[in-house]
Amino acid sequence: MSNVVIVGAQWGDEGKGKVVDILTRKADLVVRFQGGNNAGHTLVAGGQKYALRLVPSGILHDGKTGLIAGGVVVDPDVLLEEIDGLSARGVRVGPGNLKVSEKAHVIMPYHQALDQAREGSKGAGKIGTTGKGIGPCYEDKASRIGLRLGDLRDLESFRDQAERALGEKNQLLTGLYGQSPQKLDELMAKARLWADRLGPYLTDTWRLLMAAVDQGRQILFEGAQGVMLDLDHGSYPFVTSSNPVAGSVSAGAGLPPRKIDGILALVKAYSTRVGSGPFPTELEDQTGEYLRRRGTEFGTVTGRPRRCGWLDTVVVRTSVTLCGADHLAVTKLDVLAGLPELKIATHYLLDGEKIDFIPSDIRAAARCRPVYESWPGFEGDLSKVRKTEDLPANARRYLERMSELCGAPPALVSVGPDREETIMLHEYF
Ligand code: IMP
Repeated sequence: MSNVVIVGAQWGDEGKGKVVDILTRKADLVVRFQGGNNAGHTLVAGGQKYALRLVPSGILHDGKTGLIAGGVVVDPDVLLEEIDGLSARGVRVGPGNLKVSEKAHVIMPYHQALDQAREGSKGAGKIGTTGKGIGPCYEDKASRIGLRLGDLRDLESFRDQAERALGEKNQLLTGLYGQSPQKLDELMAKARLWADRLGPYLTDTWRLLMAAVDQGRQILFEGAQGVMLDLDHGSYPFVTSSNPVAGSVSAGAGLPPRKIDGILALVKAYSTRVGSGPFPTELEDQTGEYLRRRGTEFGTVTGRPRRCGWLDTVVVRTSVTLCGADHLAVTKLDVLAGLPELKIATHYLLDGEKIDFIPSDIRAAARCRPVYESWPGFEGDLSKVRKTEDLPANARRYLERMSELCGAPPALVSVGPDREETIMLHEYF
């Protein structure tokens, strides 16, 4: 298998950093293809914790190349901060092992300001964005007024484009949202620094990718967020502004659909969501608090406490089907230890009718009540378990039922944050 895509099957935060990091051992290239620094992929290697936002998680392994493809939106300040932070910790990151698409759109300071101002003005109707400027940047891309990283090669032209954009953005910022205007000179001071420091990383990543595909290299595509936050398939408008579905790898990185060899859906053994929007299995009680505490369910990017709830297999089945996933990667099974009873949502009740799909209408989705199966809980420390046979019997049963209901077998099960704390059942690559 050469080209493998990893996607989040819930609302993001399924534990992609760790799983990508494990699979990278055998991959040559790791590619980010959508989203931006709204993602926060956490992994623990050699006892050290890393939280990556833009740099592909595989970078922690020597001899691997990370690609940030054109479908990603890049805040250059964040990317540089991440490169510097990793370098300071002894991780080798440079133009030799990190390639950034010249087609990727730049998240400008006014995108971030607009994201935050717009959310601030929405009151109770807010989406709960990460406030990183992701939406406004993708908006400009679609409106064809965005600036791309490759534009930094000609700073005079960059200045002209930025000046035009700023004219419009400052009217919004000052007139509509009562904020201070942004200054072109300050923006250009940043642009000069970005051009100078990021210039050596910029390239046509699609051509590099095609060459790697032709050579039969092992390539891992690292999705960000989760299918339920997909702009087209998620709970619109409570979604992100890119497409976390597996098919997005073709648009975002340029991999032809027929070249995808394997698709792995990441599923947390329970559910979490940050930001607003329907969440049928949400637990606003002590069990929810237990999951939040034991699972350290606080946002990597924003630090916000995540909403926690029981596993929702309507959600995961939908994602597995949408993405054509071959396997699941089940994460955080260990977090469930200690709960006397475990619930799994199999269906919903919508206005008294049993349904097994997520209604497209957000108002109907909000009225869905989960139909649960109840399973006995398990106890103990799972972190040393390396084979499913060695799991407590109730944990094994939960896992079996979970994969049956989700529609795909597990390829791996994570039983702790460290790389080693994993049960491997199927080798990719
Ligand atoms: P945005 O992507 O910052 O515009 O935020 C839109 C919605 O997606 C909000 O509910 C965010 O909390 C959520 N979101 C964005 N990125 C992630 C992620 O990486 N993990 C989980 N939720 C995310």
